[in-house]
Amino acid sequence: MSDDEIKSFPEKKRMFYPPRKFVEQANLRDPSVYSRATSEEGWEIFWEDFAKDLEWIVPWEKFIDTSNIPFYKFFVGGRINVSYNCIDRHLETKRNKAAIIWEGEPEGETRVLTYQDLYREVSKFANVLKSLGVGKGDRVAIYLPMIPELPIAMLACARIGAVHSVVFAGFSSQALAARIDDAKAKILITCDGYYRRGKIIDQKARADEALKHLKEAKIDHTIVAKRAENEVVFSEKDLWWHEVVMDSSQKCTVEKMDAEDMHFIIYTSGTTGKPKGVVHTVGGYLVYAYATTKTIFDLKENDIYWCTADIGWITGHTYIVYGPLSNGATILMYEGAPDTPHKGRFWEIIEKHHVTIFYTAPTAIRLFMKWGEKYLENYDLKSLRLLGSVGEPINPEAWWWYHNNIGGGNCPIVDTWWQTETGGAVITPLPSLTPLKPGSATKPFPGIFVDVFNEKGEPTKPGERGYLVIKRPWPGMLRTLFKDPERYVSTYWSRYGKDIYFSGDAAKKDEDGYIWVIGRVDDAIKVAGHRLSTMEIESAVLEVKNVAEAAVVTRPHEIKGNEIVIYVTPKEGVEADEEMGKKVILHIREAIGAIATPGLVVFTSDLPKTRSGKIMRRILRAIASKDEIGDLSTLANPEIVETLDNSVKRGVSGVIIAG
Ligand code: WT7
Repeated sequence: MSDDEIKSFPEKKRMFYPPRKFVEQANLRDPSVYSRATSEEGWEIFWEDFAKDLEWIVPWEKFIDTSNIPFYKFFVGGRINVSYNCIDRHLETKRNKAAIIWEGEPEGETRVLTYQDLYREVSKFANVLKSLGVGKGDRVAIYLPMIPELPIAMLACARIGAVHSVVFAGFSSQALAARIDDAKAKILITCDGYYRRGKIIDQKARADEALKHLKEAKIDHTIVAKRAENEVVFSEKDLWWHEVVMDSSQKCTVEKMDAEDMHFIIYTSGTTGKPKGVVHTVGGYLVYAYATTKTIFDLKENDIYWCTADIGWITGHTYIVYGPLSNGATILMYEGAPDTPHKGRFWEIIEKHHVTIFYTAPTAIRLFMKWGEKYLENYDLKSLRLLGSVGEPINPEAWWWYHNNIGGGNCPIVDTWWQTETGGAVITPLPSLTPLKPGSATKPFPGIFVDVFNEKGEPTKPGERGYLVIKRPWPGMLRTLFKDPERYVSTYWSRYGKDIYFSGDAAKKDEDGYIWVIGRVDDAIKVAGHRLSTMEIESAVLEVKNVAEAAVVTRPHEIKGNEIVIYVTPKEGVEADEEMGKKVILHIREAIGAIATPGLVVFTSDLPKTRSGKIMRRILRAIASKDEIGDLSTLANPEIVETLDNSVKRGVSGVIIAG
């Protein structure tokens, strides 16, 4: 379809039906799956059928236990091991099939691990962990970039029942320290360095720095994978990965985990400054990852599946590691940036490895769009048969660009809505069954009960804005927040009572029941698809010398979706200058990481406040976005608004001193 044809379509008719060729080969062809999975008799059977595909050590007795809501249990009484289901289960039929195809950032560097290789490396490393005293339930912090040692370490933990907490490699030392402390991890796994945009990032030094900041946890050992061969400082507690695995046995029996034992913790931003430790368990999470990957991505034996997320986020946990590997698929993993050494790198990788399924984020798609089609010209992308999108709403323009230019006009796009807390996709098309509307994540996955509620807890009418809720528990859901069950209940199960999951997103339904997600309604913000908290950033700014007050808002950004704008009031008698602005930016990067770098820092003598002293973020947001400012009648200091507005109008990015 040409761009002109698209434009001439009335909004509603811009639907994309699954192409016949795709439907004919699809795993799922019977639309009754929706009604069966949501019927009273069919609901449990739907999930249990997927569970039966996995290998259980002891079968479950009951699908769900609702005796102590919202602390739900699934596959009650069942015993299972995640590592076994992702590896050993496939050995008989797929021993020599590639499990992981890894592409390093420096051109030409490729590693392939078959399922047998993965079995050996995971078992060896699991034995190393055991020999260091790691047992069932112990927490292991993993601070690794996109190298095969990352999934190996995760699967090794799962093998022996240890709980991993993977911390995104781009997070700062301080962010790592806070997460190690909260989880009380006893082992840290990292690497010497890795490649990013042609440079070597000194990861070991950042890990060492984190250990200096620990308040509660005590790390017994740091295991260091060798990747970039950069020079590192070693202490007596540090161990080289390649040395410790050398004499380790490749036989490691798997721990018989209870379905409800803790599998991993993953930290995510909430409404306060403190990240939340989202807890996922063994059985329900694995069944959910397995089922959704199989059906949403229509996985086949010969697929080469590439999800470009970082494993440090939940998307990578579920849709790089646990979902695809439990399905016995071949995954592609790429270490580096999309523009290194050139802007055609992703397309080169697709051609080189014959990638068939490609799952990425709207922010990346908008970036490719901006770079232009010329970077696609030299590459053959015909291997692709299915595309995916995740992390934030995809604007229809980006959808069509993706569809036409990457998908060659005939790949369905699965726009998957979900959250760290949901474990896997919740609102998503099934590519062979669901007609697509660009910009909508379409419908709930079969067996999931999603709705949009108004303030009173009634379902909204088509077109009305409301809050996205989930009305029934599902196997992949979080079970609690680590060491904080009260916060679990108050965050997710209080807005509409203990039996309705509150997502924190606003959304609308349309006449066809399609769901259109609008975005967060709490203090969580989305920048380039990453979830951050305004409070977390504000508390970092308040740590900077001479800062009196700070307010963090976002404004729309062409590529990142949103960008951070910070208003800072210096202490009485302090003159803010460019230098102080740089300090604010630097400190945010130290406290959180480069992903939280603001686009604009505005120094001001005052912030717009109500008479009771509450900062009016709505006004700050309008000023930053150059929007209509609206009613100022409740303000105690309306005069500051004009000053700020005039100043922000002058500046584009960087540091502005208002007034
Ligand atoms: C928030 C969750 C999904 C795993 C990665 C992000 C937003 C996510 C979509 C989508 C519209 C989306 C929501 C959600 N979001 N996917 N397809 N369409 N919005 O997980 O960091 O926990 O963020 O991402 O606002 O609440 P997360």
